[in-house]
Amino acid sequence: MANLSLAAAALTLAACSVTVPSQPFHPPVPGPSASEAPSAFDNKSNGVVDDSTHEADQTTFDEVEEIGDGLGPLYNAQSCRECHQNPTSGGPSQITELRVGHLGPEGQFRNADIPIARGQVVISGRTHVNDRAICPNAEFPDSEIQERVPDTETIRTTRLALNLLGDGLVETVADETLIGLAREQRRATRGRIHGQALRVPIVEAPGQSGVGRFGWKDQHASLLSFAGDAYLNEMGITSRLFPTEVTDLCNTAGEPNSTPDSTGLEDIDRFARFMRASKAPARDRELAATQKAVRGSALFDSIGCALCHVATLTTAPAGTVINGGTFTIPPALGDKVFHPFGDFLLHDVGTGDGIAIAMSEHYGRRVYEILWKEFVLDSVARGRNKIRTAPLWGVRLRPRLMHDAASRTFRDAILRHGGEAHAEARRFRQLPPSEQDAIIEFLKSL
Ligand code: HEC
Ligand code: HEC
Repeated sequence: MANLSLAAAALTLAACSVTVPSQPFHPPVPGPSASEAPSAFDNKSNGVVDDSTHEADQTTFDEVEEIGDGLGPLYNAQSCRECHQNPTSGGPSQITELRVGHLGPEGQFRNADIPIARGQVVISGRTHVNDRAICPNAEFPDSEIQERVPDTETIRTTRLALNLLGDGLVETVADETLIGLAREQRRATRGRIHGQALRVPIVEAPGQSGVGRFGWKDQHASLLSFAGDAYLNEMGITSRLFPTEVTDLCNTAGEPNSTPDSTGLEDIDRFARFMRASKAPARDRELAATQKAVRGSALFDSIGCALCHVATLTTAPAGTVINGGTFTIPPALGDKVFHPFGDFLLHDVGTGDGIAIAMSEHYGRRVYEILWKEFVLDSVARGRNKIRTAPLWGVRLRPRLMHDAASRTFRDAILRHGGEAHAEARRFRQLPPSEQDAIIEFLKSL
C-alpha cells in the first residue's frame, strides 16, 4: 500500500515537472567581470572600510543606550545588537515586534491609534507598538506612557527581526535588476507568480525614490533610511533624517547621538556603514557538499522554489550612483556576485498580515509635503497582504521562521506557502519523503 502511494506520488510529480514552470526561468546571470563577494561570520570588513573602522562602527551598533543618551520615551530595545546578533552583530534574532492597525469605513487599511497617558494623548501614524517606555520613573513617577494594543486595532501581527549581514550587496543591486526579475517571473509562470517591485521614498534624498528591498514589506531601498527609521522607532533616538520624537511626554534628555562626531558622522551614518561593510552570511560548507544537500538543491530548483528564492544576484558596477544621488557604489560592493536565495520582491503567498506600510513612521513626518518621484501611494496599499520573499541565506541560524515567527520547522514554513506559491508547495507535498528531506537538508546548509 505504502509503495503504491509512493509510486503514485512519483507519477504525479513526473506529470508536473513536464508542465511546470510553464516556461524555463532565466534569473539574471553575472557578467564576465563580476567577482564573488566574501562571506563569513568573522566580524571583518568586506573591504568597504578597513577592519579597525569596521570594528569602531560595530561598537556604535552594539552600544547600549540609556535615558541620558536619548533612549525613548517609547522604545523596544537599548541597542541595535539586542535584536540583530545571531551568531554575531548584524545577524538576526528571535526578537519580534508588534504591528497593528484596523480597517476604515470603506475597508481601507488604517494605521493604529494608540492612546497613552490615561487616554489624553493618542499616538497615530504608525503600525508599530513599542513594547517598552522609560516612564514612569523617578523624575516622572506619574507619567503613564506605555503603549498597549486597544481592542479596536483588530489587524495584528508580530514581525521577526531580520538579518543585516551582507545587506550592502542587497542595497547595491540595480533597481532594473529587480524589475527585470519580476518581469521574468511573470513570463516564466504566465503571470501566476508576479513579484511586485515597490518604489519607496529615499529619506535622505527628499523627492527621490528607489525599489524597496529591506524589511518584510520592502519599506526601504536605502540602509541609511532604514538606520534612521530603526533608531527612532526601535530605540526612540532622533537623527537628522527623523528629527521628531514619537511623543514629547516624559522626554527631557537631549539627543547627543544625533550630533555629528569629530569625523562628521552621526550614529545613523555609522550603522549604515557597518551594514554596508559586513560580509554576507556564509554557508555550512560541509553540509552543502553532502550528496543529500546537493540533491535537495537540484529539487529546490526543479519544483520551482528558485522562482522566488533566487540563488544568485549581482550588484551594479562600482561608481554607480544610487539612493537618489546620495551614495556611490564603492569598489568593494560593485559588480559582486552573491547568493541571497531571494528576489527582494513582494508576493502574496497567503501569509500576508494585512498591514500596509505606515508612511510617516517609515519616511518621516514630512512625507506628505514632498512629491516623491515615481512613488505611487496606491502601490503601497496593494502590498497590504504581500510579504517580501524571505532571503534564505543564513536560514539555518533562524529556529523561528516566516515574518510572524509562527513556523517552527522548515516543513511547516514550506507548507504554509499558498497564493502565488501554491503550486510549489503542492509539488513539495507530492514529493516522496526522502526527496522532501533532501530539500530540508539543503535548507539546513544555507
Ligand atoms: C527591538 C528589536 C530591534 C531593534 C532594537 C532594531 N531592529 Fe532592526 N529590525 C527589527 C525587526 C523586527 C525588523 C523587521 C521589521 C519589519 O520589516 O517590519 C528589522 C529590520 C531591520 C533592517 C532590514 C534588514 C533587511 O535586510 O531587510 C535593517 C537594515 C535594520 N533592522 C537595522 C537596524 C538598526 C541599524 C538598528 C539600530 C538602530 C536596529 N535595526 C534596531 C528589529 C529590531
Ligand atoms: C511566489 C514566491 C515563492 C515561492 C515560489 C516559494 N517561496 Fe518560500 N517564501 C516566499 C515568501 C514571500 C516568504 C515569506 C512569507 C512570510 O514570512 O509570511 C517565504 C518564506 C520561506 C521560508 C521561511 C524563511 C524564513 O527565514 O523565515 C522558507 C524556508 C521557504 N520560503 C522555502 C521555500 C521552498 C522550499 C519553496 C519551494 C517549495 C518556496 N519557499 C517557494 C516566497 C516564495
